[in-house]
Amino acid sequence: MQEIFGKNGVETPEPLRATVSGHLPHWLQGTLLRNGPGMFTLGGTTYNHWFDGMALIHSFTFRDGEVYYQSKFLQSDTYKKNMTANRIVVSEFGTMIYPDPCKNIFSRVFSHLSSAIPDFTDNNLINIIRYGEDYYTSSEVNYINQIDPESLETLGRVNYRNHIALNLATAHPHYDKEGNTFNMGTSIMSLRGPNYVIFKVPAHAPGEASKSSALKNIQQLCSIPCRSKSNPSYFHSFGLTENYFVFVEQPFKLDILKLATAYFRGITWGKCLKFDKEDITLIHLIDRRTGKAVPTKFYTDAMVMFHHVNAYEEDGHMVFDIIAYKDSKLYDMFYMHNMKKENNHFIETNKMSSPPVCQRFILPLSTDKGEAGTNLVKLEGSAATAVQQEDGSMYCTPDTLCEGIELPGINYKFNGKKYRYCYGSRVKWSPCPNKIGKLDVVTRECLEWTEEDCFPSEPIFVALPDAKEEDDGEWWRVLPQVYYTSEQPAPMLNTVATSARAASKTDSACPLLFLESKFNVQCVSGVILTSVISHNPKKAPFLLILNAKDLKEMARATISSSVHMDLHGLFVPKKT
Ligand SMILES: [Fe+2]
Repeated sequence: MQEIFGKNGVETPEPLRATVSGHLPHWLQGTLLRNGPGMFTLGGTTYNHWFDGMALIHSFTFRDGEVYYQSKFLQSDTYKKNMTANRIVVSEFGTMIYPDPCKNIFSRVFSHLSSAIPDFTDNNLINIIRYGEDYYTSSEVNYINQIDPESLETLGRVNYRNHIALNLATAHPHYDKEGNTFNMGTSIMSLRGPNYVIFKVPAHAPGEASKSSALKNIQQLCSIPCRSKSNPSYFHSFGLTENYFVFVEQPFKLDILKLATAYFRGITWGKCLKFDKEDITLIHLIDRRTGKAVPTKFYTDAMVMFHHVNAYEEDGHMVFDIIAYKDSKLYDMFYMHNMKKENNHFIETNKMSSPPVCQRFILPLSTDKGEAGTNLVKLEGSAATAVQQEDGSMYCTPDTLCEGIELPGINYKFNGKKYRYCYGSRVKWSPCPNKIGKLDVVTRECLEWTEEDCFPSEPIFVALPDAKEEDDGEWWRVLPQVYYTSEQPAPMLNTVATSARAASKTDSACPLLFLESKFNVQCVSGVILTSVISHNPKKAPFLLILNAKDLKEMARATISSSVHMDLHGLFVPKKT
């Protein structure tokens, strides 16, 4: 796996036209932005952990039937300091550097406890997020870096703390249909003790304010005290529905004192996270109208989670799906010494780690309580429970939807709404996902795409602009110029469309091209985008376009340049 994960990535600074084969939908216009670690060694120094690598940004631009690839290293302060010194000089979460520019910060710990939280690295390698019209690379700290989504140039870093009091913030915000962004963070050194903060960045600001950065108009929506004053929970994402935020306060905790003294103890910040398997997991529902958490205490067994899939309200219940683990070994799996092992050895080492499991929780929203021992989940079709306890709290147990799936995504138009399909990477005892999955959360069936020697990235769903259905929109659309010709009157076209639908269910090697040429119709399904790399030197990397309906390949854009394994990203539609 070393050749997949450990080798340094190479920039493609100018747009490189890919070789497209298959059927590229004409409506697919815009840019897929991706982010991930891309440089792991410098001047004889090496990071300890894969999540420490210096951020490499990628873009795949769809324009008039062509695909262009580009990649650039994020010009963060961290990157510049490292490159100037020609060695790694800035500490990351899994790598503590001595001496380090952070030393001065740590030195202040003893005289000013309020400065105990280190000035974290701005190596934002996890995701790309949008605030207003601006795009930023993001990790989980107080710094984000603005980028130009077209050129991938770094425009400068921003400190959240100039706008709102927090030390950590997720790389997985939510967006509403008005374009507002919602995100969540942790204020560690608040006078009242650490608290979790949910904030909104409006899409637009009135008058003069609209000309400045959207972040200047940030609004704090609520503050939730941490259960422990010395050990706030780590969280990576949260849920959003029409009326609630969903926050899972897991017993995967950050030891603040350890964090503040990590440098002197000779441990990394990553080692300041600890999973307490004897503790419970609290589930907070925060009313969006009041900013207050609902008073009922919902809890479940100890678990670790990173990604919410979706959440929605149905018949007086909150339904939310997450990817959960029984332990915290996932982070350890990505230490470089671990990943350098041969595949078989790696599997043996990590077999005891719990797999990622898609779990559904259902919480009753009604204030009507039952007797102790009563399961208050009344929705049918799920084994999830919420059992009333003597003290009025609810003990919740999830319903397992699927095992071995991570990096979940949905048709984001269904975020916060009842939905049916989750797209994700299928994983089993390996950090290398080698399959894309489409999980039907109703039937629990999972379609898959896979190809020998291939490692696909997190799948991103792109909806047809006027789609009606969740996973595709219409199947086929008869081309307008055909519709109006006298040779093919309208009734005939209905027959053609029906034939096209039927034929598409056959195992024809390339049904899309065949149908288009034969019937003069056009596929208009939603698509899944994933960038695919291979350890086979004869196999060039490619951007894969799958039909979201059946996960069949529609097209691939082969790239004659290096593409690196990444983490997360988002699709930016072309402005119309
Ligand atoms: Fe993530």
